[in-house]
Amino acid sequence: MDWNELEAQCRSCQKCALADTRTNVVFGDGSQSAEVMFIGEGPGEQEDLQGRPFVGRGGQFLDQMLEIIGLDRSKYYIANIVKCRPPQNRDPLALEQDACIGYLREQVRLLQPKIIVCLGRIAAMRLIKDDFKITREHGQWFEKAGIQMMALYHPAALLRDPRRRPETFDDLKSLEQKIREICTHTL
Ligand code: URA
Ligand code: SF4
Repeated sequence: MDWNELEAQCRSCQKCALADTRTNVVFGDGSQSAEVMFIGEGPGEQEDLQGRPFVGRGGQFLDQMLEIIGLDRSKYYIANIVKCRPPQNRDPLALEQDACIGYLREQVRLLQPKIIVCLGRIAAMRLIKDDFKITREHGQWFEKAGIQMMALYHPAALLRDPRRRPETFDDLKSLEQKIREICTHTL
């Protein structure tokens, strides 16, 4: 399957109940030759309305953070665990994540990223390990199937709790260093 086929399949997906309440499927955004991939939990209100990931307040804050280390969407790919908005922005249910995760796995297979950065606890628990503790383990590097993985606090959490921002700045510096170490065309 190629990117176009995958996206077309995803855009008409009815595999879970989130299909009934979505405005748009939020497939993903960024460069299909990226070495770095960011993964959040699921679309919020603005994402659902615009059909693109991380375009609301949290997304704008994420853009500002990534600018610090010279990253913009021409240099990474960004997507979510579930492609349709959970009502009232609740956490996606395990059932919904299970229904949707195949699309993300295909995105990873097509992209073959060197680095995956989980945005927040939900993505880290799903992709790094199911007992992931975001307060203790953000910024730490894990290797899975040859891919370097780490988690940052979710941008919405950083907007709510500015005291966590200095730690996230350190995590971003660690990400920058890792990119310089193992990526060939990102920075
Ligand atoms: N939060 C997420 O996890 N993903 C988005 O796309 C937007 C907000
Ligand atoms: Fe399909 Fe995923 Fe949307 Fe559920 S959330 S309808 S599995 S695309």
